[in-house]
Amino acid sequence: MLGRFLNLLVAGLVGLATALTNPIIPGFNPDPSILRVNDTYYIATSTFEYFPAVPIYKSQNLVDWELVSHAFDRPEALILYGVPTGAGVWAPTLRYLHGRFYVIGMTRWVYDPINRLFPRMFYASSADLVTWSDLTWTEPWGIDPDLFVDPVTNKTYLTHQGINNNVDRIWGIYQLTIDLDTGASTSDVQLIYNGTLPNNSSSRPEGPHLYYKDEYYYMLTAEGGTDDSHRATIARSRTPSGPWEPAPNNPILFNGGYGYRYLTVQSTGHADMVETPDGRWFMTFLARRNVNGSSPLGRETFMTPMEWVDGWPVVQAPISLIVDAPGLPDNSAPPDMFYDEFNSTCLGNDYYQLRTPYTANYELTQGVGGLPPLRMLPNIYTLSNRDTPSALLRKQKSLNMTFSAGLAVPHGGFETARQEVGLSVYLSEFQHQDVAVKNCKQGGGLCVWTQMIRNGTVNETWTPVEVEEGGELALWIRAEPLRYRFGWSVDGCEIEWVAEVESKWLAFAPTNYFVFTGAMWALYATSNGFPWPVGAEEVGFNWVKEEYWGEELPEVDKW
Ligand SMILES: *[C@@H]1O[C@H](CO)[C@@H](O)[C@H](O)[C@H]1NC(C)=O
Ligand SMILES: *[C@@H]1O[C@H](CO)[C@@H](O)[C@H](O)[C@H]1NC(C)=O
Ligand SMILES: *[C@@H]1O[C@H](CO)[C@@H](O)[C@H](O)[C@H]1NC(C)=O
Ligand SMILES: *[C@@H]1O[C@H](CO)[C@@H](O)[C@H](O)[C@H]1NC(C)=O
Ligand SMILES: *[C@@H]1O[C@H](CO)[C@@H](O)[C@H](O)[C@H]1NC(C)=O
Ligand SMILES: *[C@@H]1O[C@H](CO)[C@@H](O)[C@H](O)[C@H]1NC(C)=O
Ligand SMILES: *[C@@H]1O[C@H](CO)[C@@H](O)[C@H](O)[C@H]1NC(C)=O
Ligand SMILES: *[C@@H]1O[C@H](CO)[C@@H](O)[C@H](O)[C@H]1NC(C)=O
Ligand SMILES: *[C@@H]1O[C@H](CO)[C@@H](O)[C@H](O)[C@H]1NC(C)=O
Ligand SMILES: *[C@@H]1O[C@H](CO)[C@@H](O)[C@H](O)[C@H]1NC(C)=O
Repeated sequence: MLGRFLNLLVAGLVGLATALTNPIIPGFNPDPSILRVNDTYYIATSTFEYFPAVPIYKSQNLVDWELVSHAFDRPEALILYGVPTGAGVWAPTLRYLHGRFYVIGMTRWVYDPINRLFPRMFYASSADLVTWSDLTWTEPWGIDPDLFVDPVTNKTYLTHQGINNNVDRIWGIYQLTIDLDTGASTSDVQLIYNGTLPNNSSSRPEGPHLYYKDEYYYMLTAEGGTDDSHRATIARSRTPSGPWEPAPNNPILFNGGYGYRYLTVQSTGHADMVETPDGRWFMTFLARRNVNGSSPLGRETFMTPMEWVDGWPVVQAPISLIVDAPGLPDNSAPPDMFYDEFNSTCLGNDYYQLRTPYTANYELTQGVGGLPPLRMLPNIYTLSNRDTPSALLRKQKSLNMTFSAGLAVPHGGFETARQEVGLSVYLSEFQHQDVAVKNCKQGGGLCVWTQMIRNGTVNETWTPVEVEEGGELALWIRAEPLRYRFGWSVDGCEIEWVAEVESKWLAFAPTNYFVFTGAMWALYATSNGFPWPVGAEEVGFNWVKEEYWGEELPEVDKW
């Protein structure tokens, strides 16, 4: 604490930032894998059921991150048809091998008792992060794969979490060597590590990453499951395959030791490490920000400085939202306003779709022929289906922001009662809170409709709206740490708020499902189980806007 105040004092005098504000990549961005090539840093994160998969972010200073591309951005490279929420692409590793970027990952089709088989892992490579190779499939099954080229022997190691067999499923860290060009095994798979925890179902060593430093091989792993016991531990060896000597200070990263639901920052783990050109070290990892016990934004990318002490990594504990980190630029300001009038020829790369699109679900029209600039091509599916509705989703990046959009819809009402166009704050096919327009239930005309989904209860509101010829209806969602409010406005006049829901319902999954993702903003249109009526008026959006304010969350989760 005293160190932090002294740093602030010195910074005040010389004008440098002394503290790093976490998360460094806000919004649903779990399992960060970091890399430096020359003077540039890169991070890849998990995307689960979203398309395209595995965003790659780039930074020159470790705090300002720009989304560059996605590793798996073509439908044929990403088969997600029908995957439940929380399945899909898990925990990639990003590495630079022989002058090319590699992303290795896997797709979990289901995790149900119906089929608990582990999938085969795959990787793709790119020279420039723009054009990606086809997938190379590896031979073993597993999750959380890591690629490591031994600088001593030049052999390629594939290290991953595996199971002994698909019956008793004892989890451990497995490894083999492969031919990087073909994916073919060049050694048999062997179990190399059981982790540091007692042998029970919460141990689960996973997310291995290998490094070589000062003639030791280090293996960083995640342990304790993905929830409040999540942590990072490290071990070292004189060979890439063990035997592994665990660090005396394990777990090297673990906020769960400070009291369940006490600190705001929870579930710290799934870490990776990077060295700056001048020899400083940083650790990136996932963590949740709890607000009154739940985390609507899911697992975000955090970072903390790290030191090597007697051959082992040491980080300041516990991890807080503001971390001492002298010398980095100040990153405490909220994001700039985002405003998109859909006036370019392609959509920004920070819009996602659910699962794998079968056909086009939207089109940018440039307003030609009076079409909405973002024309939606609605299909049979809704946001409640385990499938691909006509929806464009963006990560919710702040707990204190507004998401709004201008609608292009027929003001007098739709052709059928099934048609629906609106906004949502979306977590899964089970949990999404919607504000949309539909035909009013009684009589004709257009209504603003809201649907709030709690635990098995659904609450609706219907508000008739009248929009003049040439006028515009906008829908609004105001996010605060503990709640979301839903409203509408006409022609930029005052917003009428019509519904609200507690934010904990954006961090909730029914029994047998998991929350591995985080809240997303959605622009959507559907005709609820039937194709959009032939000849119906075109629908879509004229603009979308995100406004951000400071979050100022407490370090202790008390509200
Ligand atoms: C890194 O620098 C080397 C040497 O200048 C260059 O050949 C290489 O293309 C650079 N790599 C990237 C990814 O910028
Ligand atoms: C290491 O292996 C790669 C890929 O097979 C090869 O291109 C490279 O020349 C090898 N490097 C050395 C130093 O042998
Ligand atoms: C891990 O545990 C298994 C038993 O489940 C044991 O057979 C194996 O030797 C252990 N491996 C290591 C590397 O400790
Ligand atoms: C862990 O427990 C399982 C199930 O009880 C047992 O089969 C296995 O051998 C144990 N592994 C170790 C390393 O003790
Ligand atoms: C596993 O063992 C640890 C340490 O004894 C204990 O805290 C934890 O609750 C156990 N987990 C389960 C699922 O039994
Ligand atoms: C915080 O959570 C507690 C326990 O779930 C609940 O009773 C309380 O209403 C919540 N407070 C707020 C401000 O949401
Ligand atoms: C496109 O939209 C942006 C953001 O609203 C705006 O700044 C820009 O002027 C627009 N460009 C054209 C060509 O209309
Ligand atoms: C949701 O409802 C189920 C069934 O009524 C209940 O068991 C569960 O505790 C509820 N969960 C929450 C978070 O309220
Ligand atoms: C939701 O609707 C039910 C049934 O109409 C009502 O009892 C309940 O109070 C409503 N809940 C909220 C939070 O509005
Ligand atoms: C959110 O922003 C509003 C408006 O600037 C501000 O009054 C409020 O204190 C902020 N809330 C939090 C939790 O920081």
